[in-house]
Amino acid sequence: MFGPRKSFESSAHGQEHSLAKTLSWPHLIALGVGAIVGTGIYTLVGVGAERAGPGVILAFVICGVICACAALAYTELATLIPAAGSAYTFSYTALGETVAWVVGWSLILEYSLACSTVAVGWSGYLVGWIETAGVHLPQALLVGPHGGGIVNMPAVLVSLAVMGMLILGTRQSATLNIVLVLIKLVALTIFVAYALPAFQNANLHPFMPYGFGSTEVAGHKRGVMAAAAIVFFAFYGFDAVATSAEETKNPKRDLTIGIVGSMLVCTVIYMAVAVTAIGAMPFTQLANSPEPLALVLRQLNQPFAAQLIALAAVIALPSVILVMMYGQSRIFFVMARDGLLPRGLAKVSRRTGSPTLITILTGLSIAAVAGFFRLDEIAELANAGTLIAFISVGICLMVLRRTAPQLPRLFRCPAAYVVGTVTVLGCLYLLASLPSSTLVRFVMWNVAGLVLYAAYGRRNSGVGKGGA
Ligand code: ALA
Repeated sequence: MFGPRKSFESSAHGQEHSLAKTLSWPHLIALGVGAIVGTGIYTLVGVGAERAGPGVILAFVICGVICACAALAYTELATLIPAAGSAYTFSYTALGETVAWVVGWSLILEYSLACSTVAVGWSGYLVGWIETAGVHLPQALLVGPHGGGIVNMPAVLVSLAVMGMLILGTRQSATLNIVLVLIKLVALTIFVAYALPAFQNANLHPFMPYGFGSTEVAGHKRGVMAAAAIVFFAFYGFDAVATSAEETKNPKRDLTIGIVGSMLVCTVIYMAVAVTAIGAMPFTQLANSPEPLALVLRQLNQPFAAQLIALAAVIALPSVILVMMYGQSRIFFVMARDGLLPRGLAKVSRRTGSPTLITILTGLSIAAVAGFFRLDEIAELANAGTLIAFISVGICLMVLRRTAPQLPRLFRCPAAYVVGTVTVLGCLYLLASLPSSTLVRFVMWNVAGLVLYAAYGRRNSGVGKGGA
């Protein structure tokens, strides 16, 4: 009903070589935290506060639970089908080509827009940092048209710089990752240490001024679930851990601790930061600041600590863009290799081993979106794409338990049907909590995608023609 499926053997295509088993759970936690902690906590905590008031703290808990389930489902599938393409390949194997197309097309949206979002978040901290140091740049080049400017030039430049690095064949080394993780975590610890003493109970009341459910008032979403639908952004990136399954010494132990551990570490850090930020000042002052954490510290008369936080964000956030842009070019690459997108796009540079043309195309699109659009709008659309991928992962987990129970599972997700159901229903609830304008854009993106699929992908699909 949903088109041809890939066989398990062809899904593992290109993965015959086995990688050295060098990783253990502490490495996996570092990898996960490195890919996860970014603009979500550094910037979107302010947007979340505007939507839910102090209830944004609860929004982080809800997202943490849903994402932990998605991560467990993801891990079982990543060890069962250890091929590039993640949720797209799982869907191709378990559900069929049409669903795989929708998931792949949504992942392209997710990864590209996540890069743009992090680039805009990075720009907010860079500009704040430079201006506090007394240098004033022309406003027209610092924000897009929505904020009264022309273009967000720093966001464009950082996107292009990361694109250049990928074209040159840059991969993030494990050592650099650990350094960046430390920078991000130390900065957040400094934030909590300086701002927590200013905590006032009164700032937490009323806890849910806009209620729990997401309600739309004059085109603007409010409520805890409206905040959850946007701070969800802060949690993804853990696929980095699941895809390293082959390289773990003791997959069952290392992946369980690595994935659940990085999720737990992030949820605890996020809650600590959110409680501290909300407790330090009335949430209305945090709302929609381009650099909320630095703002809190400046208001508390801690300019040095504020500059340190901004500097840490400026140094560490581009690595999140690097991981995401790399992920994006891989999805595009796998879809082109399967024949669903023009194969010419997937040509790999002999020198660097990267798909140069795809990287340029995606890099330019990411830079254009980062230059001209609003942070929350981009993040919400990225979230819609990710939610579709997570829903498919939850479904694939349960379907494959029924259709392929005999296959050896390196990692067995505990209580698979409960985890799968929480993933699917939780993500559907988050999706429904997004603004209707985002959902309309998302549907338009997928309608355009399906037209492209009908016109090109279905006819040129390698699996459809009977090849692998
Ligand atoms: N989770 C990543 C971030 O917050 C995408 O930046």
